[in-house]
Amino acid sequence: MSTPSAQPAIAAEGLARRFGAVEAVRDVSMSVARGEIFGLVGPDGAGKTTVMRMLAGVLRPDAGTIALDGIDVVGAPERAKAVLSYMPQRFGLYEDLRVDENIFFYGELFEVPRAQFRQRSTELLEAAGLAPFRRRLAGQLSGGMKQKLGLVCALIHTPRVLLLDEPTTGVDPVSRRDFWAILYRLREQGVTIVMSTAYMDEAERCSRLALLHEGQVRRCDTPQRLKDIVRGSLLSVAGGDPRSNGAALADAPGVAGVLLMGDRVHVRVDEAARRKDELAARLDERGLAHAPVVPVEPGIEDVFVALVGATV
Ligand SMILES: Nc1ncnc2c1ncn2[C@@H]1O[C@H](COP(=O)(O)OP(=O)(O)OP(=O)(O)O)[C@@H](O)[C@H]1O
Ligand SMILES: [Mg+2]
Repeated sequence: MSTPSAQPAIAAEGLARRFGAVEAVRDVSMSVARGEIFGLVGPDGAGKTTVMRMLAGVLRPDAGTIALDGIDVVGAPERAKAVLSYMPQRFGLYEDLRVDENIFFYGELFEVPRAQFRQRSTELLEAAGLAPFRRRLAGQLSGGMKQKLGLVCALIHTPRVLLLDEPTTGVDPVSRRDFWAILYRLREQGVTIVMSTAYMDEAERCSRLALLHEGQVRRCDTPQRLKDIVRGSLLSVAGGDPRSNGAALADAPGVAGVLLMGDRVHVRVDEAARRKDELAARLDERGLAHAPVVPVEPGIEDVFVALVGATV
């Protein structure tokens, strides 16, 4: 018999779910330790929301099991709801209610005792930078503020497990920093967090990541170890026209893949040190403008492309 602290906060085994002909999730397993910030990363339609909804007990899997703090989510979703909080991708705020009224509504829904409610809502509004806007109608908040209000509402009842589906999409960088400060504080308090994100800088802050593609977990590890998969094999070419440069390098000897990254191209090669000058020479031969070709530290997006050939 394992001790309660050794037990993972979330243990999912063999999750599967289809919608008609679409196999949204296939054989997904994951084990998340208490106090982790676990990231689900993958392109649109990869199955992130479907996994989240199953973990939250709002969507029944076709197959598989989920134990959340030892509770059988599939068999007893109502019991699981007492210990978790789920912030859906489109969180249900009441636009014609004020900020504080929305929080009050969720406090009532989760039966938070009054004294605790007052203290917690004050703390959370402060942390989210929403205190000055508490009397504003939710419908009149900016997109980023709405997301933060969603998080405040999701946290009003001190969950042990927090499930956040793309909580910062559309949120400005300053607000995202506030958001992360809240998440780190929760982690210190032992809250386990699973979040999906489309932002790679955010993925890097997670303790571990599951790379999801076409409904399957392709890799699950720390951001550092995931990046080791492509370390030493990545070159960056800035300057000139990235698209033309990428096209010119795609079929060069030793090149395994090319990824456009805004104003530059990342080129995956067999050996960065050896191919660096060759690639520069090839661009020069074709009269293509470019900055020096330099080795670069991989990001999660590079890992994703190397593993499945898809961009996140
Ligand atoms: N209720 C539903 N009915 C039919 N198909 C669905 C439903 N929910 C999801 N799907 C399909 O399942 C697949 C996975 O969708 P899901 O929403 O889980 O992806 P996602 O990774 O969250 O994508 P996004 O990044 O766009 O939010 C998609 O092909 C989607 O169209
Ligand atoms: Mg989604």
